[in-house]
Amino acid sequence: MRKRFVAGNWKMHMNIAEAEALASAIVERTKGTDFRVLVAPPFTALHTVSKIVAGSHVELGAQNMAAAEKGAHTGEISPLMLADIGVSSVILGHSERRHDYGESDSLINSKVVLALSHGFEVILCVGETLEERDTGKAERVVGTQLESGLAGVSEDLLARVVVAYEPVWAIGTGRTATPEDADAIHAHIRRAIGDMYSSAAAESLVIQYGGSVKPDNASGLLGKENIDGALVGGASLKAEDFAAIVNA
Ligand code: 13P
Repeated sequence: MRKRFVAGNWKMHMNIAEAEALASAIVERTKGTDFRVLVAPPFTALHTVSKIVAGSHVELGAQNMAAAEKGAHTGEISPLMLADIGVSSVILGHSERRHDYGESDSLINSKVVLALSHGFEVILCVGETLEERDTGKAERVVGTQLESGLAGVSEDLLARVVVAYEPVWAIGTGRTATPEDADAIHAHIRRAIGDMYSSAAAESLVIQYGGSVKPDNASGLLGKENIDGALVGGASLKAEDFAAIVNA
C-alpha cells in the first residue's frame, strides 16, 4: 500500500519569523493525518523550522542540494550540511532549477545519486513544457527525465525515491492538469518504472502531482488511482490551505 504524501515547497518565500509561524501552524493543523506531510522551507529558515518540526509528524525537506560534499563551490549547500540540520528529503530536478538555472539531466542525476548515498529520500521532479505537451511529446520528455535522472540508481535505492510530476505549464499559473490528464501521465511514469525496474517497484512508487494544487482541486486529483500525493507551491504558504489539501 502506497502511503499518501503531501509536500509543501515554499520556494523563495518566508523570512525566519514567518517560517516559524507557518511551520508551527502546519504541525498543529495537520495533526492526526494518515498522510505523510513534509515542508521544504528556504535554506535560511531550515534550521529554525527543523527545531519546530522535530518530534512531530511533519518531515523536513530541502529544495535543492549541491552535487558535491564539500570544497570550492561558492553558494552551494552540501548534503552533509543538510543532514546536520535534520533534513530527510531533498527535492531535485524541479523545473525552476532545470529551466531558470540550467540544470541538466546529468547534473540532476549526480545529485540524485549523491543524495541517496547520504541516506536522503529524493523527490525527483519531472514534467513537460506547454510546447512539448502541445506537440504530443509529454510522455517522451517525462520518460527521458526519469531514465536519465535515475541512471545508476538500484532498485533497493529506488525505494527512497518519490517522483513528482509537475507539468511546467501548470506551475504557478493557476492552470491545473485535469485529474484524468495527470493520472494518465502518472500511469505512464509507473509503466516506465516497471520497464526500468520491476512491477513491484512500479507498484510501490509514490508519485506526487504538482502544479497549482489548491484546496478546491486536491480531492479530485488525489482521488485518482495513480496520484499518491501532491507537491504544493503557492498553497503551501498558508497553513489553512495546505492543511485543507492534506485533509482533502
Ligand atoms: P504551485 O503550486 O505554486 O503551482 O507550484 C508547484 C510547484 O512547483 C511545487 O514544487
